[in-house]
Amino acid sequence: MYNVLIFGTGSIGGVYACILSNASANVTCVCRSNYEEARKNGFAVTSSVFGRLHARPVIVRSVQEATQSCSDGFHFIVLCTKATKETTSITLEALEHAVNSRSKFPTLVIIQNGLGVEESFHIAFPSTVIISGVAYLPTTQTSPAVFSHSETEHLHLGLYPSQCPSVSSQTHLHDFARLVRAGNATVTVHDDIQRERWKKIVANGALNPVCALTRCRDRELIDLVDVAGAMIMDVMQEIASVASSQGYEDVVTQAVVEAQYARCLARPYPGVEPSMMADARLSRPMEVYAIVGEMVSIARQARIDTPRLKMLYVLITGLNHALQTGREGTSQV
Ligand SMILES: *[C@@H]1O[C@H](CO)[C@@H](O)[C@H](O)[C@H]1NC(C)=O
Ligand SMILES: *[C@@H]1O[C@H](CO)[C@@H](O)[C@H](O)[C@H]1NC(C)=O
Ligand SMILES: *[C@@H]1O[C@H](CO)[C@@H](O)[C@H](O)[C@H]1NC(C)=O
Repeated sequence: MYNVLIFGTGSIGGVYACILSNASANVTCVCRSNYEEARKNGFAVTSSVFGRLHARPVIVRSVQEATQSCSDGFHFIVLCTKATKETTSITLEALEHAVNSRSKFPTLVIIQNGLGVEESFHIAFPSTVIISGVAYLPTTQTSPAVFSHSETEHLHLGLYPSQCPSVSSQTHLHDFARLVRAGNATVTVHDDIQRERWKKIVANGALNPVCALTRCRDRELIDLVDVAGAMIMDVMQEIASVASSQGYEDVVTQAVVEAQYARCLARPYPGVEPSMMADARLSRPMEVYAIVGEMVSIARQARIDTPRLKMLYVLITGLNHALQTGREGTSQV
């Protein structure tokens, strides 16, 4: 039996806790805001894809508590926390104990949005195998430890770094993929997972900051101002040019950009609320660097001109700062 520790039990972590429990893994979850409810009732998911899921994993308050209670150690530590600077440094500190206190190294599975999210973990734990994951799993937490999922589910997995993987790291990767599949979820294993990150960020990197800054959903904004659609498309084109500079021109093609834009238009009014917009509305920290900043930094190094992305990055960084220093609305960190 696999011992799995899930860190971050918001929407993605909560649903995968149920899926992995269903696959008969011994799941332990580190919970913060939904600790009491998760401990009392477990996690419940209502899904248009999976039907109803319910799981009662071991619920703890900290990684330290988890490692103390699990004498055999964890095979996989799954990070589903938000990719913000603050959360990453808290997570790194918390994992120190779990990773370094054992002779057997757990494998880290990082399921987060954006680009460059794996690097600080790789630097901190150079001998730990890192699996990088890109999830398509539209989920909201409707009340603490209760989730509503719809539309689609797909987890893309690959190793970080992807070059020259050892045989043992490939074994860990395929073991984890098999475990998720045993819980009836869909997994694709990739030689280069960064392709999937770029594919996802074409739309995400444009819609997240635009919707967060305006507090308008995508279709709502496109219908509101006649040049909004063209502007969003221009941002996607800039992202495509950055992807090309990194050797991913075959991933983020003109056809992909057009298809992503067509998806916005095809959505019923008022469209989707990207995660950054939801965070902005509630004055929560936004994943500014992972979703926009890293791309701007890559573009600068590659000498690719991205004026729109740069402007969005400055504005969204400013908004995030203002919200977090309590200058707008009330802070609910
Ligand atoms: C997994 O889910 C199915 C269907 O909901 C259920 O019948 C089964 O008992 C679950 N298995 C575990 C190990 O939780
Ligand atoms: C499951 O994990 C918990 C730690 O969270 C541990 O105490 C328990 O012994 C594990 N169960 C098995 C059967 O390994
Ligand atoms: C997994 O999915 C298959 C096909 O959709 C279904 O027949 C089976 O009952 C599911 N198993 C569990 C454990 O949910």
